[in-house]
Amino acid sequence: MLRALDPFCEQLAATPLSQMIQATEWAIPAIQTVHIVAVATVMASILIVDLRLMGFASRDQSIAAVAKRYLPAVWYALPVLLITGATLIVAEPSRSLQNPVFILKMAILLVAAGVTAGCQLPLRKNARFWDASTSRRWKARLIGGLSLPLWIAILFAGRWIAYVQSA
Ligand code: HEM
Repeated sequence: MLRALDPFCEQLAATPLSQMIQATEWAIPAIQTVHIVAVATVMASILIVDLRLMGFASRDQSIAAVAKRYLPAVWYALPVLLITGATLIVAEPSRSLQNPVFILKMAILLVAAGVTAGCQLPLRKNARFWDASTSRRWKARLIGGLSLPLWIAILFAGRWIAYVQSA
């Protein structure tokens, strides 16, 4: 099915922007570096928030306080990841767009971002939402325990793309 993207990938690779990136030796390493810095920002923030949700760290602070401090970094870093990731795709379209691991990475990213947003949104109306009862605290533990493996899976898939042949 991914072979159906052949003409699109070929056209994209022939655009002046793609040609320019391909011809500039340092461009891809530089874009990858920015991607990795944004990855580090997301993962550091997610780790702190998820450890707090699971009750393993920062227990002297409310979930709302930890989320308010660290989650904005996730939402600011995601557009940077989107722009740098899209630029890498323009440079070498078939390497990602026709790679099943890249599709998997994007699918997990959607779920992970949904879980993180789902944890943050109730706090807007009620800062004590996740601390309000024992059952809510257990749900928060569950969300943290689900979110962290999802974000780590994205990390793993991101690195794995390079080792799986595109269709
Ligand atoms: C927002 C949308 C994103 C897009 C479009 C995107 C796209 C890409 C692309 C095209 C690559 C290059 C893969 C290759 O050629 O080997 C890449 C690498 C990578 N991405 Fe993303 N990515 C996104 C978000 C993320 C997120 C959220 C994470 C992790 C939290 C992540 C982690 C990585 C890692 C670890 C690599 C490997 C970098 C390397 O080996 O140099 N990406 N990404």
